[in-house]
Amino acid sequence: MSVHSSSSIKRVTTHILQEMKDRGEKISMLTAYDYSMAKIVDAAGIDIVLVGDSASNVMAGHETTLPITLDQMIYHASSVVRAVKRAFIVVDIPFGNYQGNSSEALRSAIRIMKESGAHAVKVEGGSEIKESVSRILSAGVPVMGHLGLTPQSIYKFGTYTVRAKEEAEANKLLEDAKMLEACGCFAIVLEKIPAALAKQVADSVSIPVIGIGAGGGVDGQVLVMHDMLGITQEFKPRFLRRYADLEGIMMEAFGNYIRDVKSMDFPNESESY
Ligand code: KIV
Repeated sequence: MSVHSSSSIKRVTTHILQEMKDRGEKISMLTAYDYSMAKIVDAAGIDIVLVGDSASNVMAGHETTLPITLDQMIYHASSVVRAVKRAFIVVDIPFGNYQGNSSEALRSAIRIMKESGAHAVKVEGGSEIKESVSRILSAGVPVMGHLGLTPQSIYKFGTYTVRAKEEAEANKLLEDAKMLEACGCFAIVLEKIPAALAKQVADSVSIPVIGIGAGGGVDGQVLVMHDMLGITQEFKPRFLRRYADLEGIMMEAFGNYIRDVKSMDFPNESESY
């Protein structure tokens, strides 16, 4: 059933997301990168659509999120914007387009907002990118932070294992979350950190905290759409719950089509003019 069946669709805003945290209603967030998938996930009633730089992995086949460009992110984001009527749309600023200096960060955010029509941007990191975050916010662009396992820094970490298990890293993460809140970020993503720390962060800041591999004590959850649909079969972290086996369904459909073409069962008379 579509949430769009009623004629008036109320758009999700940062204000509504804050109200959801305040009343304890969990926020649902999924990635999308193209028009057709974004249309379905929006009609299902998702609160936030993230045009993640995970597009670099699941759409383009790169090993990391680093290669995707600002132009490519804008292409994905504008396709999603054309499809989505209700959800709040957040777009990742890709690696290399905000860390250098705050002017470049602002230019990148403005390009995303102007050229795609999205509603907010997401950036990875804490104190290191404070100036960039503040500069983007000063232009009236909502910013979502991202702490913990930040995939754009994968070559610094060396592995995709759980972050902030040690006290020093956990303390820095908590301080970074408070800093992002003080700067004016509307929400923070926490990726792959201990559930107890994630809950402590969610309890320590007033803005929504969305987790991926961060347990159930946060204000909402996000997954990569292709992972939860079972399209990416080789990615199997503990935090991933699969809600479908689309690879299996698609393989069967493609196999049936190939068989029918070869056997000349398709097209039949009723499928011809
Ligand atoms: O790019 C992405 O999909 C993300 C999520 C994993 C939060 O940043």
